[in-house]
Amino acid sequence: MRRISLRNLRLVGFIVCMIFLATIVSGCNSAATSTSDTEKRPIIVQGPMPIEAEKFAEKLNDMEVEESGNFVFYKGTIDEYPVIVTKTSKGMENTAAATALAIEKYDPIAIINQGTSGGHDPDLHVFDIVLGKRTVNIGSMKTASAEENEGMDPSLWKPMDLMASEGSAGEDPNAEKIRYFEGDDELLAAANAVKDQYKLGKVVEGTIGSADLWNNEVDRINWFHEKYGTSVEEMEGAAAAQISESYNVPFLGIRILSNNKTNDGQYNPETASANQDYVYLVLKEYISKLK
Ligand code: 5AD
Repeated sequence: MRRISLRNLRLVGFIVCMIFLATIVSGCNSAATSTSDTEKRPIIVQGPMPIEAEKFAEKLNDMEVEESGNFVFYKGTIDEYPVIVTKTSKGMENTAAATALAIEKYDPIAIINQGTSGGHDPDLHVFDIVLGKRTVNIGSMKTASAEENEGMDPSLWKPMDLMASEGSAGEDPNAEKIRYFEGDDELLAAANAVKDQYKLGKVVEGTIGSADLWNNEVDRINWFHEKYGTSVEEMEGAAAAQISESYNVPFLGIRILSNNKTNDGQYNPETASANQDYVYLVLKEYISKLK
């Protein structure tokens, strides 16, 4: 009896050891799988117009084109890391849809929305670049209440936070606030790390305002600059930021000034390709840190 139970004891000991070893080995394997999966998650670089996406797409290695609706996804690699350039088309709706589609299709590790913009800050000039420390929707607003023949006054309009609650934003006093979407710290760090390599203007952190609107009234531009702290305006960034935030995907807007009405900065379409050259440097820096 005693000999059998000793043998049993050894057997049990052996089995426990094997289970322990198997657990360690499988733990190591799953860690290895999740690391390599993370390495494969692509970076998305968005540009609204062909001139804001195609130059970047040309920089990709082993490039393939995939189309969906109005959106074009240029899939390739930079420094052996997967990058997908998206031509989103202009405006908030196209950009929101292209962002949600890209997240569902490709599970990106980060999203950069880049392109041209109009200056709100008189200290910024055509060819300067703004890194979106914050991005904000400047088209989502509630007007003041007025009766017939009492006129209309945009300077009285209040910001309306579309993400404040699930109830009516028009009735909810908590929704009367500006919602800023924060730029991702690691993307910002990569952008700051290469800013001295950009020679056509300065690169600053700031606030990017977006709406389906092109403001040409300087008083209104100044009003946004003071009330919202906007550095520039464009028509896409806040839509991409909002969708990225709802999926928890790191996001950064990078916008070059192609015009600035506050200091007579005339529109220059060459800025679109200059921004793509800079964003390419940002991407290489970000990828080198991922590796
Ligand atoms: N206001 C609004 N959008 C601008 N864009 C460039 N400058 C401005 C501006 N001053 C960008 C938008 C859109 C296209 C019309 O150019 O993001 O994609």
